[in-house]
Amino acid sequence: HVMARTIIVSNRLPVKVQKDSKGNLHYKPSEGGLATGLGSVYKQGDNVWVGWPGLYFTDESNKNEASQRLKEENMSPVFLTEEEIRLFYEGFSNETLWPTFHYFNQYALYKKSYWVEYKKVNQKFCDQVVAIANPDDTIWVHDYQLMLLPDMIRQKLADASIGFFLHIPFPSFEVFRLLPWRKELLDGVMGSDLIGFHTYDDMRHFLSAVSRISFLGNHHGQIMRDRRTIVVDSFPIGIDYDKYAASAASPTTLSREVKFRTSLGDQKLMLSIDRLDYSKGIPARLQIFDIFLSKHPEYQGKVSLLMVVVPSRDNVENYKSLKEEVDLLVGRINGKYGSMNWTPIHYFYRSFPLEDLSAFYRMADVALVTPMRDGMNLVCKEFVASKLDKRGVLILSEMAGASKELSEAIIVNPNDKHQVVDAIYEALTMPEDEQEEHMEYMQDTLKKFNIHHWVKLFLGRLDQVKEKQRKMA
Ligand code: UDP
Ligand code: G6P
Repeated sequence: HVMARTIIVSNRLPVKVQKDSKGNLHYKPSEGGLATGLGSVYKQGDNVWVGWPGLYFTDESNKNEASQRLKEENMSPVFLTEEEIRLFYEGFSNETLWPTFHYFNQYALYKKSYWVEYKKVNQKFCDQVVAIANPDDTIWVHDYQLMLLPDMIRQKLADASIGFFLHIPFPSFEVFRLLPWRKELLDGVMGSDLIGFHTYDDMRHFLSAVSRISFLGNHHGQIMRDRRTIVVDSFPIGIDYDKYAASAASPTTLSREVKFRTSLGDQKLMLSIDRLDYSKGIPARLQIFDIFLSKHPEYQGKVSLLMVVVPSRDNVENYKSLKEEVDLLVGRINGKYGSMNWTPIHYFYRSFPLEDLSAFYRMADVALVTPMRDGMNLVCKEFVASKLDKRGVLILSEMAGASKELSEAIIVNPNDKHQVVDAIYEALTMPEDEQEEHMEYMQDTLKKFNIHHWVKLFLGRLDQVKEKQRKMA
């Protein structure tokens, strides 16, 4: 008898492979909420994570070396060709689905060639999952890149226990209907037994799309399809709270903080950390900082913005042009206000190791998390978990899923620039006891609803759904 495992499937593995100029391979943690969130739980037991290692391999021996190494860490790599990366990953996933699901449908491309490749690559993932799955395994598929996968697996393994989780928003029906392949996408997802979203609204939007496109009603989130009950619910993802709290207390983090502080001086610090993505509202945030400095000139020389922008999807046109826009805005604001001993914006276009991020979180008086649209947003949760002294203020966009849980933050509409400017002022002048009160409240929530809780909740629910199906059969 083989032990029952969980097979996690997502487009991106939690580890990415990089090749240096000498041809040597390096293994680095992937960025993005899905990888950082689940990264600390999949290693338990002999679970497996199936996904793409983030690099196009030209060399067979490199491929074997990477396979071997990833396998030792419970990962089963799916290698994508250049064409697959272009049409499936950059194309359908990030030029069709991503913009549509984030309400940027004016950016969406509807290309047949992208769709054809999306189907092919989902089938490729399916073949690999089916090849390694045992009958007792639970298969947990993640995110928009693999929406067809649940039903493809179902065709091969009729009784399999299949969960699907969407890490990005599910848009309202009026936006979702714009997709030429809306019906196929819903059918794909409905191959699962349990379908999870971050928020109640995402779930509601999904159910409404299912009723209007697939003509399937639901009873409290239960859909009957092909004589199988599918359950739909919201499960807001948490973070590995202890990991971030411990990292915030580690000697490495502390010594980095001292180093950064020494070069910054004693001014106030605002922090923003995101992948370079138009959904994150980076240009608007910069304009807001500009307005703030002109409206409150007494803060010139007294507060800086530390802005970390992590490179992302840089072959996609809209990401390239965004990079230029951000560079330009940062340059303009620094040129307008900067002085010999004060830089308004410290701008980094790269990723950082955890200890550096922890030092940034610790140092920041204010975290400015103002996406136009975000499925959840983990950065704001990491900031809260890192505040061991409970000092600091979170400004959070109401368009981020996290705003539904962190109601003690200063919640703003990122399109209302003057509201955000006022929120910054409020944050910078908030009395310490008030900061602590809000912070403690948020910390309690995040400690309780951490990533382990989330995984248990989802997988436990999936077991229940399966159990009930068996009884009905
Ligand atoms: N992150 C990282 N390296 C960096 C900056 C950020 O690994 O240099 C992580 C960050 O800690 C967070 C994730 O990337 O866990 C971003 O997740 P979030 O949900 O905020 O946004 P997403 O990128 O998934 O849209
Ligand atoms: C978001 C998505 C993830 C994705 C991550 C990074 O968090 O929900 O599925 O992995 O962004 O994006 P990338 O395209 O680099 O995988």
